[in-house]
Amino acid sequence: MTRTVYVNGSYLPETEATVSIFDRGFLMADGVYEVTSVLGGKLIDFAGHAKRLERSLNELDMAAPVTTDDLLAIHRELIARNDITDGLVYLQITRGSAGDRDFAFPDPATTPSTIVLFTQNKPGLAQSPQADKGLKVISIEDIRWGRRDIKTVQLLYPSMGKMMAKKAGADDAWMVEDGFVTEGTSNNAYIVKDGKIITRELSTDILHGITRAAVLRFAAEAQMEVVERNFTIDEAKDADEAFITSASSFVMPVVEIDGAAVGTGTPGSVARRLREIYLDESLKAAI
Ligand code: PDD
Repeated sequence: MTRTVYVNGSYLPETEATVSIFDRGFLMADGVYEVTSVLGGKLIDFAGHAKRLERSLNELDMAAPVTTDDLLAIHRELIARNDITDGLVYLQITRGSAGDRDFAFPDPATTPSTIVLFTQNKPGLAQSPQADKGLKVISIEDIRWGRRDIKTVQLLYPSMGKMMAKKAGADDAWMVEDGFVTEGTSNNAYIVKDGKIITRELSTDILHGITRAAVLRFAAEAQMEVVERNFTIDEAKDADEAFITSASSFVMPVVEIDGAAVGTGTPGSVARRLREIYLDESLKAAI
């Protein structure tokens, strides 16, 4: 099926949607993005994603081309036009095209930002068999730039990380800086020890995950103890459980780190419970 996508105010077949070769997203990775999941035809935590988008744009001095209300309407229109029950909506905003290549930012008054949205159809997204199996991760050095709290489209190193994992027979990579785990290539990282959920605290070192915020809130409501602090790969290998969170994987258990089984080597009860609570509560609040 040819998807209908959104580009700068128009709904078009994906085969007819174009962006300039001078677009700064293409030339400079000068753009930000969001990925919002869709379950049962409804958006999960749209407000959270819209808020983080606004923050990313502000941090980069980039103008928002549409209002949050318009953004919601575009998301919904794409879900309807593409008949998405379960899947993802990808949104990207770049600093636009000044019609040439130049490091200096163009004047936003004459160079409007580019906005693109498309859907990804993923039937049964919440029933992923991976959730029953758990993920194998490897550790790699985190050599990304220092503003990982901004959700930019600079995804070359995370892509290389996924390839390193694939080559090693694993599913993903956890990145390590100064001896401590920062996050996964496209997710936040957690361990569980003696019933405590441990995850790195928010800073410019990691993306402020929308799923992370919701999961930590639900964990606290369920009287589970959460500790926001650094942890090492050795501590993770020695943990009772490990898991990741993201908009596309929700809560996903990690069962192996650098070839060593975590806990029993099967998805742990805390991760399983958090996944259940997260999906239940998010579905209830979906719009
Ligand atoms: N990735 N950390 C990184 C580096 C990420 O790229 C992501 C999301 C997360 C989790 O954030 P959230 O819970 O808001 O999805 C953490 C998205 C899913 C992606 O790039 O596809």
